[in-house]
Amino acid sequence: MPEPTVTNPTFLALLSAHSAMMGLFEEHQQALLERDFGRALERLLELRRQFEDHVQGEEELFAKLFSEVDSVRGTPLDLFTGEHKHLRELLGEFENATRRLDAGTAGRHLIELIEEEALFKSFFRHHDERERNLLYPAFDKGTSDETRRDLLRRFHAH
Ligand SMILES: [Fe+2]
Ligand SMILES: [Fe+2]
Repeated sequence: MPEPTVTNPTFLALLSAHSAMMGLFEEHQQALLERDFGRALERLLELRRQFEDHVQGEEELFAKLFSEVDSVRGTPLDLFTGEHKHLRELLGEFENATRRLDAGTAGRHLIELIEEEALFKSFFRHHDERERNLLYPAFDKGTSDETRRDLLRRFHAH
């Protein structure tokens, strides 16, 4: 994963947040399997917090760069913000479902939840690929080193 450095600032560095979030999701599912529902909820809430933090910074960045960078000008912003909204809704549903689990929860309900959660994984992977392969390389190409350095600093200040 390229890190933003003084000589080579790149928006791709922001994607490390995606792997951190997937790690939390795995820990949440692992806790579900172990029927440690308190931990499953706690890991999911931490994921939601990191997600909101990441998305808030990202959407500020998009709002600015979609009007300034030629290669993405005209790209509908809601292509990305719509995906954020969808991912947020899924996480909210999983939180509600996780809060309903208790010692009496049948194994088949856990299986159902884990299967529903697979949807999040595939959407998230898709979203990651779009940002990794299209959006961030376009932002990198369309901005000066100085602009990138400045914006990355602001993003990390969140
Ligand atoms: Fe992202
Ligand atoms: Fe995103």
